[in-house]
Amino acid sequence: MTDPPPSSAFRTANIDPAVTERLTAVLDVQAANPGVRRLRAWAHERLGAHPGERALDIGSGTGSETQVLAAAVAPEGHAVGVEPNPGLRAVAERRAAEAGSPARFLEGDALALPLPDADADVVWCERVLQHVTDPTRAVAEMARVLRPGGRVALLDTDWATFLLHPATAEVHPALAAIAWGTAATPHAGRSLAGWLAGAGLTVDHTGADVLLADPYAVPRPLLRAICTTAIERGLLTEERRDRLYDDLDAAAERGAFHLSVTMFTAVAHRPR
Ligand SMILES: C[S@@+](CC[C@H](N)C(=O)[O-])C[C@H]1O[C@@H](n2cnc3c(N)ncnc32)[C@H](O)[C@@H]1O
Repeated sequence: MTDPPPSSAFRTANIDPAVTERLTAVLDVQAANPGVRRLRAWAHERLGAHPGERALDIGSGTGSETQVLAAAVAPEGHAVGVEPNPGLRAVAERRAAEAGSPARFLEGDALALPLPDADADVVWCERVLQHVTDPTRAVAEMARVLRPGGRVALLDTDWATFLLHPATAEVHPALAAIAWGTAATPHAGRSLAGWLAGAGLTVDHTGADVLLADPYAVPRPLLRAICTTAIERGLLTEERRDRLYDDLDAAAERGAFHLSVTMFTAVAHRPR
């Protein structure tokens, strides 16, 4: 199979250990977020991977959910993570080995999955479609590799739900616009059910949870990145940014800080 063209910023070949370390740290913080944990548990329960099944985790990152799937399908089944980023793939392989998990990892792209037709019983794809330039094609690929009766769970953020408080009426729209612009497909969250239905799959469950950020990590890496871009684009001055950080720190002290985005999920099956 020929290597597909880059389809997201994450797809850029990452051979820099410092970048891998930074991405891994971000994914670990997100994995510990109570909203992410709740939504993952909700979706895994509805996906219902069970012993003997073949599971696929697309855009597996550090491989945490590939390991969850591997445990669910054990002992006869198997779980494979498809991950284009070599740095993250190496982290996933190392962590699975350390945990004694049989999860395996392959190089591959959501737009051209390295699997034959009807090869998977269950597919998991979490916070990947927001990074993909052609999510409709990615979901069509999932439908192709699912066997009739097979199930799929999509989970993704919708960046229109970015909320930061306190931020003035001038500053908030600028930061929200940057947050929206950081993803290739920022409206992924609201689109999941429609993409699945459009690929001929039957949507069985939809759900959502809110990811509330820890106020005592202000300014958080996400916020710092958003502010830096806003300054580069002339939407925010350094003075306003510093005032914003002070306001957020003070709000955290008195319990009034809020930073959140909403994450959505849809679980579907391929009709027989
Ligand atoms: C925000 S991370 C989520 C990782 C993991 N699914 C999780 O929830 O922890 C996005 C992942 O999507 C992967 N990714 C980006 N573009 C992709 C593509 N075109 N095909 C497959 N994976 C992709 C990235 O390398 C990264 O591992």
